[in-house]
Amino acid sequence: MNKGKYYITTAIAYTSRKPHIGNTYEIVMTDALARYKRMQGYDVFFLTGTDEHGQKIEECAKVAGVSPKEYVDKVYSEIKDICDLLNTTYDKFIRTTDKYHEEAVQKIFKKLYEQDDIYKSEYEGLYCTPCESFWTNSQLVDGKCPDCGREVCPTKEEAYFLRLSKYQKQLEKFIEDNPNYIYPESRKKEMLNNFIKPGLQDLCVSRTSFKWGIPVSFDDGHVIYVWIDALSNYITALGYSPDGSGELYNKYWPADVHIVGKDIVRFHTIYWPIMLMALGETLPKQVFGHPWLLFGTDKMSKSRGNVIYADDLVKLFGVDAVRYYLLSEMPYTSDGSITYETIIERYNSDLANTIGNLVNRTIAMTHKYFDGEILPPAEKGDFDDELSALAVKTVEKVEKLLLEYRISDALDAILNLAKRSNKYIDETTPWILANDDSNKARLGTVLYNLLESIRFIAILLSPFMPDTAQSIFEQIGTDITSYDSLSSFGALKTGEKVGVGKPLFNRIDAEKMLAEIESTIKPQEDICEKEEVEGIAQIGIEDFAKVDLRVASVTNCEPIKRAKKLLKLTLDDGSGTPRTVASGIAQWYKPEDLIGHKVIVVANLKPAKLCGVESCGMILAADCSNDDVSVVFVDNLEVGAKVR
Ligand code: MSP
Repeated sequence: MNKGKYYITTAIAYTSRKPHIGNTYEIVMTDALARYKRMQGYDVFFLTGTDEHGQKIEECAKVAGVSPKEYVDKVYSEIKDICDLLNTTYDKFIRTTDKYHEEAVQKIFKKLYEQDDIYKSEYEGLYCTPCESFWTNSQLVDGKCPDCGREVCPTKEEAYFLRLSKYQKQLEKFIEDNPNYIYPESRKKEMLNNFIKPGLQDLCVSRTSFKWGIPVSFDDGHVIYVWIDALSNYITALGYSPDGSGELYNKYWPADVHIVGKDIVRFHTIYWPIMLMALGETLPKQVFGHPWLLFGTDKMSKSRGNVIYADDLVKLFGVDAVRYYLLSEMPYTSDGSITYETIIERYNSDLANTIGNLVNRTIAMTHKYFDGEILPPAEKGDFDDELSALAVKTVEKVEKLLLEYRISDALDAILNLAKRSNKYIDETTPWILANDDSNKARLGTVLYNLLESIRFIAILLSPFMPDTAQSIFEQIGTDITSYDSLSSFGALKTGEKVGVGKPLFNRIDAEKMLAEIESTIKPQEDICEKEEVEGIAQIGIEDFAKVDLRVASVTNCEPIKRAKKLLKLTLDDGSGTPRTVASGIAQWYKPEDLIGHKVIVVANLKPAKLCGVESCGMILAADCSNDDVSVVFVDNLEVGAKVR
């Protein structure tokens, strides 16, 4: 049944570097929504792509010693490979260096200029290169870029401006008339109060300070501001042109939703609608701003040594487990968190113990008691109605939650059905029923209900974990996999046989895997390192004062069997209690190089378990050139002395 068209997009990723797992969240989330809508019968068009112009990219290419085009070609392939690795089903992948896009953007710019929505003037202001944005003094925060906290440079140049101010009232009215346009509500308030209501200033939409951009067709030396170029992708990908648009545009525009990160909601809810108003085109129905995925509680960056990449995770856990983690970990408005420890924990508890176990036990029992045959539900008993009612209710719940983009809550609801089904096994005790032949009809019913509940789970899971769903369908031996078949409990055919049981997720030995991660996954080289180094956040003196640094002497030191990179140090920090610290310096130091020397220890670091060792603190060491590391020795200082 065709329910109409549904056009969904991600932000297009910068080709400044290979994306980390945080950047990957968005494409997986959008893919899950696109798959879900397709399953419901919508005619979906799912767009993603890469944002390949701008000064930052020009500089990254210079650092890498290649042309900007060579640079973006390489990173584009890495980004696309990750999208494909994660099994995302985009209908189109646009690159902003695609010729048709560049030509359409030039025409858009020219049209806006000819109708006086863009005008030429002179810009004098403060420019943030990584954000490609101009700021006024009053917009700076502590003298730095309000978006990224980096230094800004005074810049003066002739430039073109887009008349945002002209559209202020029209934008406010549109937001008022379309209360769900900026979604969720918290992001809408932020946009209205912080950016729109204080008054919009005309936006500088061309640059002369660099070359790597789409040229303004009628003025040599000017290139089009990267956000005008990038935002246009949502329509150029469908064949839009001010001269006349193609079939795809007529069919799919306006977008039903743009899925974007919280940092770029502003561009999508101010610049983009105003561009479209000026062009006389329909506005998108909704912009959903999602939170970010952090490493623990930190932003991921190479300089912090905490970058996690999707391909590393897929090698360790498989595609669907990575998709599951990303989608289930992100709360609705606050940021989500990822660490190797939490992925393993969730893998074992949710995937291996709850879903894997349910399928495994049910298939094994069907083989054992009925030679694999699915019997009809001939004898109802306790708990049956509760299970079937929950299955049907879960379908409605997931539907409602996904309309609000509450992805992790939707997954939680599906997991809850799996938990309820596991409980149903404990309540109905099939192994006891199997002891008496007269219970055959009841036992058959119990297994039927379990298999049917698993079928519900697999269909509902399929947008999130497509391969897992497929494997479950094969194991329960069903081809009834449509969304419509979930309208009532009991569509599973009887008299057929279940397939061969295969474990979906093998339990992971956390300690062993963490040791493997420690010894095999190294931070990958970042071809645009400069930006990362500049990205280290500044802290106030009060933040530094929170760190308790002490002089301690190394009284003992030994290797850790399961972790080639770690040494286990015993320290005397003057407190009277020996302190254990695991330190990743085994590559550079032998125990005898350390014993008897004094080091600086971070004494109030939260204890952490590293490969089975409870590590209470961290010793200071310096990164030297050529991959060398030197421990900071302070043999001349007194044990216990505080370092400030
Ligand atoms: N090129 C612009 C978008 C232009 S859209 C017309 C851009 N690119 S980006 O590569 O920096 O980010 C792509 C998307 O990933 C953005 O929506 C951004 O918010 C999101 N994320 C970046 N880091 C993220 C996390 N750590 N976690 C979740 N999403 C993250 O912005």
